Amino acid sequence: MDAFVVTGGKHLKGRVRASGAKNAALPIMAAALLADGPVRLKNVPNLADIRTMMRLLRELGMKVERQERSGDMILENVDLSRVAAPYSIMRTMRAGICVLGPLVARRGRAEVSLPGGCAIGDRPVDLHMKGMKALGAKLEVKHGYIHASCKRLRGTEMYLGGPFGSTVTGTANVLMAAVLAKGTTVIDCAACEPEVQDLSRMLVKMGALIHGIGSPRLVVEGVDRLSGAEHSVIPDRIEAGTFLVAAAATRGDVTVEGARWNDLFALVHMLREAGAHVEHYDDTIRVRAPDRLRSLDVTTLPFPGFPTDLQAQMMAMLTAADGISVVTEKIYPDRFMHVAELNRMGAGVRKEGNAAVVHGQRRLSGAPVMASDLRASAALVIAGLMAEGKTTISRIYHLDRGYDRLELKLNRLGAYVRRIKEK
Ligand code: EPZ
Repeated sequence: MDAFVVTGGKHLKGRVRASGAKNAALPIMAAALLADGPVRLKNVPNLADIRTMMRLLRELGMKVERQERSGDMILENVDLSRVAAPYSIMRTMRAGICVLGPLVARRGRAEVSLPGGCAIGDRPVDLHMKGMKALGAKLEVKHGYIHASCKRLRGTEMYLGGPFGSTVTGTANVLMAAVLAKGTTVIDCAACEPEVQDLSRMLVKMGALIHGIGSPRLVVEGVDRLSGAEHSVIPDRIEAGTFLVAAAATRGDVTVEGARWNDLFALVHMLREAGAHVEHYDDTIRVRAPDRLRSLDVTTLPFPGFPTDLQAQMMAMLTAADGISVVTEKIYPDRFMHVAELNRMGAGVRKEGNAAVVHGQRRLSGAPVMASDLRASAALVIAGLMAEGKTTISRIYHLDRGYDRLELKLNRLGAYVRRIKEK
């Protein structure tokens, strides 16, 4: 297994570009199941999760290729009789659930394994199923698989809010089903995340009729068929945000290209509140940090609130800020696996229910730590950059699921991160 050895104490400086958004690319790839004709996707990041989705779509009878020169991905339906998404693939990547809606809508049937467990807490799919049932699909869970069928889905009105607000992949799934349903569908409490907006724009290019894109009420007029299309995936706001936080945490000066202001507004607001200077032009954001940052209260919320996928990285930064910060998690109440590891490095973080109290002004010291999930791993890398001495982060495969050559990009900014093989 690969590990990172991070030598701390460097101030990050320079320019870096965010890759395409993993969480936009995954449902968009699934949307190709709906197309009569080839789909060409640009700016798809080169990540483990993307390769897993390619494997899943091939299993579902699609031809999926990456062009060597351009990096473009071409997807085409070949065998429409394949409808089974097996556990062997689904257990490694929850976004695989996004094939449920398109399979039922286009092929009339789906057998999709319930996704595997997850280190960030409970991740049910009841809202996905609620939406599919509302559209008229017959649904049954048997032996760990969702069996779904329907000759032609029917448009309807539905409320897709859950105990923690809207659902990102749930909205994507139901939206991809509704575009081929007969009649009009209204999805209320739809997720507004930029990734859902990007999927909607892709579906419109394929011929779908969707109103209210980016709002919590999506109105979909079903059509009989969708064509192939070409689409460039938006840049990854979480990767961009991770660089912005790393810059502030190391008292650096970093300009991130592919950082869309409107997608990152909550983070920018928080960084400014902490005392960092943040400027932007076009899709570029520059962060310059002073020697001392101020403490903050951060609460994760659905978009446009502060993203849960940047909570861990922000917490790493706050371990050195002046004063006491409170980080409250309103999306995944148990997403605090990084707390114990940050404390191993000398942080003063105490978990209190769905919040963490961060006593700042700590000088972190390098230590061996364990990555538990994708964003917790990114937080440990930031902590390693802030720390005195060497930090060895094991199980870096979590990080490779969502960051394209992170060590390379950080090293170009003056960091010293080495990838090693661990027994
Ligand atoms: C997406 O997961 C992202 N994944 C996650 O990114 C991200 O953390 C999350 O949205 C929240 O922003 C992808 O887009 C592939 P949800 P998703 O459904 O769609 C509850 C990363 O690090 N809920 O919006 O699975 C759920 O438990 C990953 O890149 C239900 O109760 O998240 C959570 O509390 C990790 N029932 C809340 O809603 C459901 O049927 C939001 O989850 C579905 C969700």
